[in-house]
Amino acid sequence: TAGGVRTRSAYHFQPAKNWQNDPNGPMYHNGLYHFFYQYNPDGVTWGNGNLSWGHSVSVDLVNWFALDAALQPSRSFDANGCWSGSATILPDGSPVMLYTGIDARGDQVQNVAFPKNASDPLLVEWVKPEYNPVIPVPADIKRDDFRDPSTAWLGADGLWRIAVAARVHDVGGATLIYRSKDFLRWERNADPLYLAHAAGMVECPDLFPVSEPGVEVGLPASGAGARHVLKMSVMDTVQDYYVVGRYDDTADTFVPEDDDDCRSWRRLDYGHVYASKSFFDPSKNRRVLWGWANESDSVSDDLVRGWSGVQTVPRKIWLDEDGKQLRQWPVEEIETLRSKRVNLLIPEVNAGGVNEIIGVMGTQADVEVVFEVPALEHADVLEPNWLLDPQSLCGEKGASVPGSVGPFGLLVMASGDMQEHTAVFFRVFRQNDKYKVLMCTDLSRSSTRDGVYKPPYGAFVDMDIEAHGGIISLRTLVDHSVVESFGGGGRTCITARVYPEHAENGNSHLYV
Ligand code: FRU
Repeated sequence: TAGGVRTRSAYHFQPAKNWQNDPNGPMYHNGLYHFFYQYNPDGVTWGNGNLSWGHSVSVDLVNWFALDAALQPSRSFDANGCWSGSATILPDGSPVMLYTGIDARGDQVQNVAFPKNASDPLLVEWVKPEYNPVIPVPADIKRDDFRDPSTAWLGADGLWRIAVAARVHDVGGATLIYRSKDFLRWERNADPLYLAHAAGMVECPDLFPVSEPGVEVGLPASGAGARHVLKMSVMDTVQDYYVVGRYDDTADTFVPEDDDDCRSWRRLDYGHVYASKSFFDPSKNRRVLWGWANESDSVSDDLVRGWSGVQTVPRKIWLDEDGKQLRQWPVEEIETLRSKRVNLLIPEVNAGGVNEIIGVMGTQADVEVVFEVPALEHADVLEPNWLLDPQSLCGEKGASVPGSVGPFGLLVMASGDMQEHTAVFFRVFRQNDKYKVLMCTDLSRSSTRDGVYKPPYGAFVDMDIEAHGGIISLRTLVDHSVVESFGGGGRTCITARVYPEHAENGNSHLYV
């Protein structure tokens, strides 16, 4: 087979079968985590027309119990699909869902849903009130350019706000703001929260406050005081971009601190992740991010396997000391899955040195490496235009191209004969008297199979390696077809999907 069993992830979220895409309405409620997701109950492809909200619960974000679908197309206001949306926890502790319905005419409209029985700990049944839709398509927006309501937050005036993605004709991708006092009647603010002139349709907006730089404590959705992060999923490039900025909670507008072309903002993940969504977890005072990692082999492979799509591990996110970038780290609960620990201290790695890490399961591992670079000053000189396209740079200077400082990193999911391997590595360059660290996940040798997407992924790690004593860390979660990496303490993340042939019936090896 195309590897239905061997490629299935062991600890990344997946339903038992069929298609999944965006994370929806993640929340913590009465001691349980709820996770919903775009789900096709009838098949392995996206399945236009019958998208539903799959539903699972967990006490620890690691072990999940599948429940029946929470929302399925059933009414005129969602007859053709229940698309993405978000959860809001009301002041009395009860949740409400906002989601996009594809109505009987094919219009994208925004609906609400409430738990049928608020005292059911599992919140299995959801009620869609008769009065839906609560927001029909506005006159100036095309019927299929209006979707993905965010979590609501309360303004100082006592009104709830939500962000909704839209495309304004001839203007660009917009994040619209609606206000309401009751979740029933919503009024659009004349100004959008943010207008992305350079982009077409944007999807799944997420606006959230962050603590002071370097403070890992998350904040609940709110307008007041704090700095905010705006994340948008840009359809043109299929990438999730974010930026830190100032949210004005009276005008309901957002001004990025950085470049105004959203496509040059930072990316949550420089690999294969889209339509991410965060939520505030009050039980641990942290903000947690989920993201969808699509398959990257062929649809016919998906059909043979019977499933498509995984979620990234839930990641704690906070603002870095630099006040500009988010740091991301697998939630600590993932570490409860660690069983046998293997330590390896390698005093010195010579050029070309490859050290096998023996005693771990190569297909399923949580790898943390700390590299100490003794002589940064030997680094190759960076050509300025390389800064513009780190991905191509990773392609040109793959894992087997020698450099002065690097490549150094991991070879994961490697066959015994090394014919197949996925390289996750760094390379240090010198620019005047500063150093730049490039991080790559090179998939070109990840599989000997054809018809598999095998790009080089890459980005710079925004940290001063010299000030860190020449030390840089890499954590890579290997999970069969997932290679999810956190470079420089979670400053740069790269998630890749891999389909090595050898894993069908052989062992995988791990090397540093
Ligand atoms: C993003 C997206 C959303 C939409 C959903 C439909 O991947 O296109 O905009 O609500 O998927 O499944």
